[in-house]
Amino acid sequence: MKEWLLAHVPFQLLNRKEPVPAKYFEISLQDTSSYTFIQGPPKERLMEIRRQNCNPVTMKITYYKKPLFAHQGFMQWIWDVDGRRYLDLFAGVATVSVGHCNPKVTAATAEQLKTLWHTTNIYVHPTLHEYCEKLTSLLPDPLKVVYLTNSGSEANDLAMLMARLHTGNFDIITFRGSYHGGTQQTMGLTSNSPYKYPAATSSGCTNTMCPDVFRGPWGGSHCRDSPVQTIRDCSCAQGQCMANEKYIGQLKETFATSVPSRIAAFFGEPIQGMGGAVQYPKNYFKEAYKLVRERGGVCVADEVQTGFGRTGTHFWGFQGHEVLPDIVTMAKGIGNGFPIGAVVTTPEIAAAFAKAYHFNTFGGSPLACAVASSVLDTIKEDGIQQNCLTVGTYLMTEMAKLRDKYEIIGDVRGKGLQIGVEMVTDKASRDPLPPEAMGEIFEDVKDMGVLIGKGGLYGQAFRIQPPMCITKQDVDFFLAVFNKAIQNYLNRH
Ligand SMILES: Cc1ncc(COP(=O)(O)O)c(C=O)c1O
Repeated sequence: MKEWLLAHVPFQLLNRKEPVPAKYFEISLQDTSSYTFIQGPPKERLMEIRRQNCNPVTMKITYYKKPLFAHQGFMQWIWDVDGRRYLDLFAGVATVSVGHCNPKVTAATAEQLKTLWHTTNIYVHPTLHEYCEKLTSLLPDPLKVVYLTNSGSEANDLAMLMARLHTGNFDIITFRGSYHGGTQQTMGLTSNSPYKYPAATSSGCTNTMCPDVFRGPWGGSHCRDSPVQTIRDCSCAQGQCMANEKYIGQLKETFATSVPSRIAAFFGEPIQGMGGAVQYPKNYFKEAYKLVRERGGVCVADEVQTGFGRTGTHFWGFQGHEVLPDIVTMAKGIGNGFPIGAVVTTPEIAAAFAKAYHFNTFGGSPLACAVASSVLDTIKEDGIQQNCLTVGTYLMTEMAKLRDKYEIIGDVRGKGLQIGVEMVTDKASRDPLPPEAMGEIFEDVKDMGVLIGKGGLYGQAFRIQPPMCITKQDVDFFLAVFNKAIQNYLNRH
């Protein structure tokens, strides 16, 4: 914990109505000095429109008691309609990868806007081809064939169909607690009840126990690939992982009881995002992939949240598990907030998928490809992956000190800037901190100027998946704010 920050930022400023003056941080606001803050319609009017004309469920899950009225963004910062600045550590749900309105990406987008917005991929336009070549150069052989979509749900939907056509099998396995999309097909993969409607979704989808080494029945202090391990005891010998054996045992039970002997696919996120960056034992994916392939299935890595350098050690999350998927799906960070998704697969699977004509009007539009291409360039030029590793590791190791200090912080985990902080009533029971308590801390953190996310099956985890350009100073500010929010909560109760 960097006490200097608390010393330098008076608490009335941490609890401020106005943004903390920039002099407290070694950052320059030059780039934003020309911004004008536009009030827009009054807040009450916006809420009225939200109630009357927007998806009513968004009213139920409007994140904060006092909602955030977002107006403008620049890199890791968001300003509300009153000009109040927030450090954005949730990035529009892990989506703004290289920073809000990143100047390089904005310039590339503006250039393409002046040239050609849209044509379909029935014509040969350079942006699509240049992008496909650039993207596949970042993937290992034989993952070389790209299908561009508009979202992650669409990408997973396509991957389901591909897996089924290629294998001639139907059944697909996912982890409990997973989110893979909201279309009627992908809702079958999603194993998280608040996101499941009481309607027929894709049949043939079965879930298996998520090998969550903190909350699950098994887990120790060496299981996961993270700078921070769980607080659980471990009696495994060097090179052994009892938790892995047990969770793989659960997968074998699923094979024995719940699916036919031949399956189509296993879908897994390298780190489960919606669950609050849930990590599995180190060799789980390796063994699971082998078991899936023995049953005729293909392995799909859902990189919608973990891709594009976010995990720090690698460009793709699956590489951290030392596995090679047959299909990789991606979205969110691929376009820094512009709607684009992708499925990348092998020529063999692509050939099996050529049985009909797959057409997507917007998938791979010149505009989307120009944005995504510039995102890839920016990740490379700005050392974004290395930044994830350095800053993310710093955040987690410092946050682990808070975990050791406070009984209600149960777990700190993740890789790079894919981070979860799981809150508990106490460390012995590991019972989830109730939603009201989570809500109080969450709101307080926002009121002190930092946006984070929430996740976990019981809403018990805070999610930190910021734009990948954040700095150590941002982390220091966040840690000071989070520490203060926990203290405030404990003082109140
Ligand atoms: C892991 C994962 N896969 C797929 C999706 C679906 O992506 P989209 O919302 O772009 O359809 C999400 C969205 O949150 C996700 O987190």
